[in-house]
Amino acid sequence: MKKFNNVIVRRPCKAMVEGITSGLYPGKPDYELALKQHDDYIAALKQCDVEVTVLEADERFPDSCFVEDPAVITRACAIIANPGAESRNGEKVEILKAIQQFFPEDKIEFIQEPGKLDGGDVMMVGDHFYVGLSARTNEEGIRQFGEILGKYGMTCSEVKLEEVLHLKTGVNYLENNNMLVSGEFVEKADFAKYNKVQIPEDEAYAANCIWVNDTVIVPEGYPAVLAAVQGLGYKTLIVDTSEYRKLDGGLSCLSLRF
Ligand code: GLY
Repeated sequence: MKKFNNVIVRRPCKAMVEGITSGLYPGKPDYELALKQHDDYIAALKQCDVEVTVLEADERFPDSCFVEDPAVITRACAIIANPGAESRNGEKVEILKAIQQFFPEDKIEFIQEPGKLDGGDVMMVGDHFYVGLSARTNEEGIRQFGEILGKYGMTCSEVKLEEVLHLKTGVNYLENNNMLVSGEFVEKADFAKYNKVQIPEDEAYAANCIWVNDTVIVPEGYPAVLAAVQGLGYKTLIVDTSEYRKLDGGLSCLSLRF
């Protein structure tokens, strides 16, 4: 099934080494290696039948390669988020410029103060969106998000996060009712109706795989997750994201897919 035609990515900037990190995966990113991994990521996306728009690095925002956070793109509109981390909030202004190339003004919506919302907390399942209530996304952000979706006949529901940074750090939808779940999401009633693939604790990072037009991109170094995804019948591609992992970033964080 072809669902996505476009992908937006932003090149990592040199300042990424100062990006926000929980320290869960220790070490400073190696910038040169991060660039190479970004090249590989783009090459993998291009194998998934999408046009890839590559935005220039932005040294003002160390985490700006994680373009998933300042916006959410749905089938009917683009929603400019209001990122909850202060050092990242200005990324919304820059992603807007990119999104204006794809959406008319009347199909671009905004999460406004005091609402906060990071796109990494938003998981799309058809016309329904699960939204993590997290350190980055607040109740008001989710309320506004739901109101915007309602205008276009779409819905959302809140999922309270206890442990991880973003919702998609621990749960990702692979279409066809298949969902990768790890840690705190394994037993959540919200996801009971899906065919859940439980990620082993020592491969928790790889819960963050992305489905792109029937291919699933899996991070390098997670054999159990790779086998599980292949067992579901998907074609897979592997990309090493070790330098982004040090900033708590994964495959989904690095692109907007629509
Ligand atoms: N380092 C990515 C983030 O914390 O948003």
